[in-house]
Amino acid sequence: MRMHTSEPVITDIRALEIIDNRGRPTIRARVFVAGRAVGCADVPCGSSTGSYEAFDLRDGDARYHGRGVRKAIANIHDELKPALTGQNVTNQRLLDRIMVDLDGTMNRSRLGGNAILAVSMAAAQAAAASLHLPLYRYLSAAGHVLPVPQSCLINGGVHAGNELDAQEFCVMPVGAPTFAEATRLVCEVFETLKGILEQKHGTLATNFGEDGGFAPPVRSSKEAMDLLCEAVEQSGYVDDVVYGLDIAATTLYDRAQGMYRFDGRQRTPDGMIAAMLDLVREYPQIVSIEDPLDQDDLGGWKIMVDSLPEVLIVADDLTATNMERLQLATRSGAMNALLCKVNQAGSLTDAMDAARFAQRHKCPVVMSVRSGETEDDILSDISVALNAGVFKIGGPHGSDRGKSFNRFLEIEAELGAVARYAGRDFAQLA
Ligand code: PGA
Ligand code: ZN
Repeated sequence: MRMHTSEPVITDIRALEIIDNRGRPTIRARVFVAGRAVGCADVPCGSSTGSYEAFDLRDGDARYHGRGVRKAIANIHDELKPALTGQNVTNQRLLDRIMVDLDGTMNRSRLGGNAILAVSMAAAQAAAASLHLPLYRYLSAAGHVLPVPQSCLINGGVHAGNELDAQEFCVMPVGAPTFAEATRLVCEVFETLKGILEQKHGTLATNFGEDGGFAPPVRSSKEAMDLLCEAVEQSGYVDDVVYGLDIAATTLYDRAQGMYRFDGRQRTPDGMIAAMLDLVREYPQIVSIEDPLDQDDLGGWKIMVDSLPEVLIVADDLTATNMERLQLATRSGAMNALLCKVNQAGSLTDAMDAARFAQRHKCPVVMSVRSGETEDDILSDISVALNAGVFKIGGPHGSDRGKSFNRFLEIEAELGAVARYAGRDFAQLA
């Protein structure tokens, strides 16, 4: 009998307005191949967003305080669907090119970066499903690295209602032998920290911030670090855990005055750099600092990189997963690690190109969720496809965070002997 081999062409695309973990609307897209719904993806969304990100198209009307995504969904149905119908779903780069060209703007502002990314990721899922491959394998034959989970256990900044200025204080269980063991370490430290917070600050201190970490009533980075260190020590993992911070300094910077508000004081850019050096001197187990300075202070970033060569100086708002910004920042020596967020780039191909560019320039990639997430666990697959050494995963609270841990656990089990946990080599994976 002759096998029927038809090309996996896109026959339909449907999008739906759903809500994320903050009760805000976002887009779910489904891409149909040969009449079957085989690929589905949701768009994540930030709140401490940088200005170089792909445009997040919102309705701006009375619904959902202006955050509705009906216009973006109409763009998917009216423009993206006719442009992609009949295309082979496995041509990811071409599909993304068609959408970006159709948008025609520098920052995806006509159709919406959120509209394009929804279809881009759903198409990748559809392609993987039509080839009967897990997504990480469809995206790369070489993907085998399980990243160190950089897990936010204490939240501040715009992600919490406390008075802590920096946004994220994270543990990184580099000494664990596997991702499964790394997950156990994170969850045990999380549980221990909860007890410490209750004891020191009462039960109100165990309320959560937007990244799934606790939002205790502390005011300084050192207080937050002391709490994390105590939890790690009590859990018995001092030799296995290092620390990563996201200062999210763009949100702390007053452009008009040229001053930062940090740890309860006003600081000049130089004062901010001094504060970072002081933190690393006091806590030498800090191995990663994201966004220590404003997104436009390339000179200050270079001083950070030169002053702390052993620490990952991670570019989030600085580069916004945008190739032009990334080229500028690497050329300027203003970063030594890239935070990769797919919705900053606005298409899967653009995000993966940015990550691979960084890796070629010896900048390790930290994949990252956003504060606004759904149950979609696609970012874990993308991380493994890129062999990213670190994944900023949030705290283990809530299924909007647990989904990333759980997908990595599935992938690690599926890869078996081929799987490699990044562990202490997290910064060498470039
Ligand atoms: P966001 O925060 O998703 O709200 O932008 C995460 C981050 O700053 O890394
Ligand atoms: Zn950040």
